[in-house]
Amino acid sequence: MGSDQDGAFYTEGRVRVRTSDRAFLNPESKASRDISVAFVGAVAKDGKTLDATAATGIRGMRYAIEAGRRDVTFLEINEGAYGELVRNLELNGLDPGSARNTSLQEFTNARNGRFSVIDLDPFGGVTPYIYDIMKIVGDGTLLMATATDTAVLCGAESRACLRLYDAVPMHNELCHEAGLRILAGYIARVAAQFDFGIAVRLALAHRHYMRVFLEMRHGVDAVDESIASMGFAMYCDRCAAPTHEKAALPVASMCPRCGSRLRSAGKMWLGSLYDKSAIGKAMALLDDREAGARTVRMLSTISGELDTPFYYSLAAMTARLHIGSVPIRAVLDALGDMGYNATRTHLDPNGIKTDAPVDALTGCVRDASARIAGKK
Ligand SMILES: C[S@@+](CC[C@H](N)C(=O)[O-])C[C@H]1O[C@@H](n2cnc3c(N)ncnc32)[C@H](O)[C@@H]1O
Ligand SMILES: [Zn+2]
Repeated sequence: MGSDQDGAFYTEGRVRVRTSDRAFLNPESKASRDISVAFVGAVAKDGKTLDATAATGIRGMRYAIEAGRRDVTFLEINEGAYGELVRNLELNGLDPGSARNTSLQEFTNARNGRFSVIDLDPFGGVTPYIYDIMKIVGDGTLLMATATDTAVLCGAESRACLRLYDAVPMHNELCHEAGLRILAGYIARVAAQFDFGIAVRLALAHRHYMRVFLEMRHGVDAVDESIASMGFAMYCDRCAAPTHEKAALPVASMCPRCGSRLRSAGKMWLGSLYDKSAIGKAMALLDDREAGARTVRMLSTISGELDTPFYYSLAAMTARLHIGSVPIRAVLDALGDMGYNATRTHLDPNGIKTDAPVDALTGCVRDASARIAGKK
């Protein structure tokens, strides 16, 4: 079953909601919901589920109906949207009493216990909500948070990023990965104040949003471990080469290759972005026909992706070398033949994650370009 819209109703997965101006619904977020349903089904611990910013309630209802979550609470601050939410719960045979017309902030202050799954999907950024969310997480909670303030996280509005996330963004071709890492890093810093560390299970930058899937881990050791995963990214404009350093303060400021001053970004999460085993389990549960080929492809790129910070953009590299574009496959194969790990990344169709030094990569790019020129 795919999604379909018949004027008054929108169907996605096994859930049907009324379309109305009163409750926000973006069909473009279907991939995010499909992946989340599979992820919740695959890895979430038993316990209560919170759809913290419900609108139509489509996410929480899909967790209940498709991922088998029995105890789902829906929050919606807006009265008109809340009315739609109640109707949608009835329409799908779920308890309308599980919806509350209140804010996440009030709810988390009212001793409602801890939740093992929390979905946060507000308008714009997540920073106004994270502090309150920490009051209801427990050890092992799966916290999924979507940010749509991508202009802030990607550096088009860098002063806002400093203000909201207390981090300097990267305003170049690596901005999506840096944005995801700034988002995860921000949540890790707030979580630390509540004695929680984080493990990033999955991080997606797709279309208009960035979304992180985090496992919350209680205790000082877990906090120390996640703080030790924080640091800074450095970028040389001349070499188009990214580096990074896990550290409390930024360190290197000169490029070791060319001596230029490096651009720094952060503080950000520099630990793993993917739990390949959890992603594999989610992929096994994903209904491929429902999710569609693009979502399946994105997840399979992620499962093959080298899980290290930053990638090289072939487009930036060929522009810097003043050569024409080269096929990514040829460069990946050449790096593999030389014994390096080299993969694609879901963050950039032209991006290469590799453990090869930048000179080896540059050599492969030049060779691939020369081969193409020779054939012409
Ligand atoms: C982007 S929509 C949610 C979309 C929905 N999760 C989906 O997948 O279709 C955000 C919703 O959160 C609600 N909201 C905003 N601030 C809130 C708060 N502090 N507490 C609870 N709900 C809030 C808004 O009224 C809006 O309906
Ligand atoms: Zn350099």
